[in-house]
Amino acid sequence: PTHEPIDPVRYIANRSSGKQGHAIAAAAAAAGAMVTLVSGPVNVPDPPGVKLIKVETARDMLAAVEQALPVDAAVFAAAVADWRTATNTAEKIKKTGKGTPELALVENPDILATVAQLKTRRPPLVIGFAAETEHVLEHAKKKRKAKGCDWIVANDVSPRTGVMGGDRNTAHLITAEAVESWPEMSKAEVAERLMLRAARHFAESEISV
Ligand code: C5P
Repeated sequence: PTHEPIDPVRYIANRSSGKQGHAIAAAAAAAGAMVTLVSGPVNVPDPPGVKLIKVETARDMLAAVEQALPVDAAVFAAAVADWRTATNTAEKIKKTGKGTPELALVENPDILATVAQLKTRRPPLVIGFAAETEHVLEHAKKKRKAKGCDWIVANDVSPRTGVMGGDRNTAHLITAEAVESWPEMSKAEVAERLMLRAARHFAESEISV
């Protein structure tokens, strides 16, 4: 997740645990990749063998991601806050007893779309995630095109699935050519499978050169 401050003691957050993103970084490192993990405020362990950059807000995350370029493959598994408050007050907002404060929101940058649409330094393989609660494949296919990424990993995050915060995931890999629906597995296994697919993709592109 990212945290978007409202004032020095309060923030806007979401239920993402960071487990899937950390598992992907761990799987990529285990497969021999040089990995930079840009990670928000989470309580999961830092994977071994990666360069870890801790950030708090969406804007910090974008800056850290841009700093990490160029790379061969970029995976965007963060649950970036869509909005931040228009003003971040220096002092704690006080209860006045005379009504409630109005929180004006502004949109955060879309990190995945920004990187996927770079004119120079666009990573050759850009992988996004689509956390959906309905019409998972349909929404995810549209998202792949709208963001300009190569692959989308789509998953159902309805509360009944327990994906948000849980250890398991049921994912679909959407490429320009096909949709692969994977059985339910651990987030570590989703990560390993995704990195295996990425390695195969690079091996195949080398052969076709
Ligand atoms: O638009 P939506 O949030 O559903 O898209 C999900 C994908 O976009 C994920 O890969 C997520 O990491 C990425 N994203 C982003 N920056 C945002 C919002 C989403 O990189 N501000």
